[in-house]
Amino acid sequence: MHDIQISTVGDKADLYRDLLSALDGLTAGEPDAIANMANAAALISEYVPDLNWAGFYRLVGGELVLGPFQGKAACIRIAIGAGVCGTAAATQTTQRIADVHAFPGHIACDAASASELVVPIVVDGVLVGVLDLDSPLRGRFDAEDQAGCEAMIALLGPRIA
Ligand code: SME
Repeated sequence: MHDIQISTVGDKADLYRDLLSALDGLTAGEPDAIANMANAAALISEYVPDLNWAGFYRLVGGELVLGPFQGKAACIRIAIGAGVCGTAAATQTTQRIADVHAFPGHIACDAASASELVVPIVVDGVLVGVLDLDSPLRGRFDAEDQAGCEAMIALLGPRIA
């Protein structure tokens, strides 16, 4: 077991700083992409509050394919450009959606999801996949959540490529 120290009493900046450090410790020196994505999903799911789904889609054969995650069983394949994940992949920009029901083409894997944050994973200019977080709360994700998740993906990207 890894000894993970995450502040649950500090502010959001403390939480993401601790998560980045824990993620570094869990994945440093481990070459297996699936293992690293699995531990990242477990870490985020345990410590980021108010999520109902946290995990990865990988770019395989020109489409997004479900990867390691925590949450309910989800859609397996998503076309580039489809839904929130496919839009993040197509544009290579983070999608922070306050109300998924107002997002054209949103793919409802879990009916409980109300807001979503999807960070594209781009390594050396090449799309590898996306990190997808869903919340049952509308407007759950703010700029700090986005920055915290983008920092984790910047660290993790080369370790899952
Ligand atoms: N809602 C996503 C699909 C993936 S699930 O949320 C796990 C989308 O619109 O791309």
